[in-house]
Amino acid sequence: MGLTTKLLPTNLLNMVKRSRPIYSAARRMRFTAGTALGSRFVAGLDSRAHYNDFMLNSTTLTDVESYRRGAQAFVDILGNSIKAAGRNWDSIGRALEVGCGYGRIIRELRSQLPSGRIDVCDVIDEGARFTAAEFGVRRVPVIEQVSGHQPETYDLIYLLSVYTHLPLSMIEENLAAAARTLKTGGIIVFTTHGFVSASTAERYNQYWLDKQTVLNALSQDGYYYERYPYYYDEYGLTWLSTDQTKALVARVAPDLKLVRHDAGHLDGHQDVFVFQKA
Ligand SMILES: C[S@@+](CC[C@H](N)C(=O)[O-])C[C@H]1O[C@@H](n2cnc3c(N)ncnc32)[C@H](O)[C@@H]1O
Repeated sequence: MGLTTKLLPTNLLNMVKRSRPIYSAARRMRFTAGTALGSRFVAGLDSRAHYNDFMLNSTTLTDVESYRRGAQAFVDILGNSIKAAGRNWDSIGRALEVGCGYGRIIRELRSQLPSGRIDVCDVIDEGARFTAAEFGVRRVPVIEQVSGHQPETYDLIYLLSVYTHLPLSMIEENLAAAARTLKTGGIIVFTTHGFVSASTAERYNQYWLDKQTVLNALSQDGYYYERYPYYYDEYGLTWLSTDQTKALVARVAPDLKLVRHDAGHLDGHQDVFVFQKA
């Protein structure tokens, strides 16, 4: 059955998005249908994909290839990040993906790291549950929601396209929790939207987004966040300058030392930051 994540053509979708209650109801219906349908095998993937996997635009060969290529490229980036920090995959006893969605990255990461050494979490619990069940990894609670002592568990924590969607206070909270659960010598890799992304902000094709406003804010404050106007949750698009990102890490996770920063390294678009816990 060919239910795609985006059922409506962009123009029509944008019209619906201009009414928050209508968009919200339509989205809820779409995801309820996806939940009921669950998952299926898709040509080009060696394991099932969930109907609610919003990273898979459709099941056309082109979209499936792009979905896989993006994930494989990120796993390569993780490998290079680990190497830059003086480690290798064998030394990664336990890894955590924060914001795993429906397992796009885990599907590919399994070629480098056995599933038994991988944990995942996501605020979309259905995504984390599906990823755990389908790929044999372990689902853990959303890290900043865990109260009390958090043991230093991980050699690697990574977040792909997560801080690109959250306001500063939520990034700070998450990063502080991530840093606490990293072992000494552990590595954290995360992506941001920096100047490279801001200067091509039209790629998002968002009717509500003003590129010049983003560029001005980034130059002046090093930060811009706008909630998706059609969402009720605090989730949108975020840009952070390199200096602001470094300052935020120094503020909430001073044990983390910069290993490398590559502007626009992910898909010529997102910045990749690698830090290691001293
Ligand atoms: C753009 S998606 C990226 C999904 C996945 N990393 C990928 O690249 O395929 C961002 C994901 O981060 C999740 N997320 C946002 N804030 C989070 C948080 N504080 N903790 C865990 N997951 C979060 C969202 O629910 C969503 O699944």
